Order: sequence, then structure tokens, then C-alpha cells
Amino acid sequence: MSSKPIAEDKDQPASFTWTPQSEKQIAVILAKYPEGRQSSAVLPLLDLAQRQHDNWIPLAAIDAIAARLDMARIRVLEVATFYTMYNLAPVGKWFLQACTTTPCWLRGSDQMMRCIKDKLGLDNHGRTADGQFSLLEVECLGACVNAPILQVNDDFYEDMDYETTATLIDALKRGEPPVVGSMKGRQTSQSIAGPTSLESLKKSDGVPAWFAGQKAAAAGGDD
Ligand code: FES
Repeated sequence: MSSKPIAEDKDQPASFTWTPQSEKQIAVILAKYPEGRQSSAVLPLLDLAQRQHDNWIPLAAIDAIAARLDMARIRVLEVATFYTMYNLAPVGKWFLQACTTTPCWLRGSDQMMRCIKDKLGLDNHGRTADGQFSLLEVECLGACVNAPILQVNDDFYEDMDYETTATLIDALKRGEPPVVGSMKGRQTSQSIAGPTSLESLKKSDGVPAWFAGQKAAAAGGDD
């Protein structure tokens, strides 16, 4: 995986202050950990800082987290640079995270990436000049069953190919994100050909013999 960009000095705010809403959430998060183990809250606090600050974490927020959790700054930065879900530089309004790990690659993530390049001119870590879109290539998003996957902000779009990626990008440009899930209309991870399991049961006129036998056995067990 390529190294993570950190915002240039000119983009770094001079300070970072938690909002009152974030402070309430911090209190809830810290209460989950035993006394002396508050550094375990570094992951949720990084996430909170990112959500508060336009989907990226400035170095001033790293300092604020280190101070709050009594950790060395470098330890917070180590965590923030390790996980792809933390952004240390500005990202687009529509932050695209494209999975190119083996299952998504086998199912055509190259076409998804080619479409993003064609329509937005983006390579990995790129951001459009108008700040509307940015792209990050990521490892498995845990939704391989509907590969390839393109995550947009917090949402997953599935079954991506060149055409569905183009449709999605056009909709985002209009500010009309489609319904999340499969872009080919299948229900959750159901077969693309529709339901195939137990169809014979739905079509049978009567109750199958094996099911009737189970019902009888269950009824006998209740005696
Ligand atoms: S490999 Fe892409 S979601 Fe798992």
C-alpha cells in the first residue's frame, strides 16, 4: 500500500478545538475504558476528529487527541498513518474508496478504476481541482460477496463495472447519490439471477414429506 499523504503546512489549521457535541461523545467513549487505559480510545477519537473536521484529521487534532489521552504525539500519528480510514489531508466532498484486492480485482475492479480515471482524471490519492471528488485505493472492504466495491463517504456501492461507476459518478455530480447497495439491483447478496434456493418448496402444492415428518416429530416432542 502506498504511503499516506499529510496535508501541507498551508492547509493545516493553527489549532483544533473539540465542539461541545464532540466533548459529549468523548465523555461517553472514555467511560468505556478502565482507569489508566484511556489510550485505547485513540481509534474512536481519531474518527470523531475526522468527522468534526470535514473528513480529515489535521495535525492540531493529533495533538489534541494526544493531550486528551496522555499519549505521545508520535503514537497517535502512528495509528492515524497505519489505518486507511483516517485521512491526514483534505479529501473531496465525495470521497471514493475503491477496493482492488483480489476478489474485487477478479470481478473487474480494473474497469471501475478506469472509469474513475476517464471521468474524473483521478489516480490513487488524487483530488479534483473543484474539491468535489477524491480517490483512495483500499484493501478489502469486507463486502467481497458483491464485488467490486466502491465506498463513497460512509456508503457502499456494489457490483461495480465501467457503466455502473459512470452512472454513480454522474449521480454524485448532480448531488443525487443513488440508493446504496448493489448497482445492478440485486437484493443484498442474492444471486444476480434471482432466488434459487428452496424455490421447489414455493412451487409445490402440498407440504413436502420431509417437512411434514419434522412437524410430526416436533409435535410428538411437545407431549
Ligand atoms: S476484496 Fe473487495 S470487498 Fe473484499
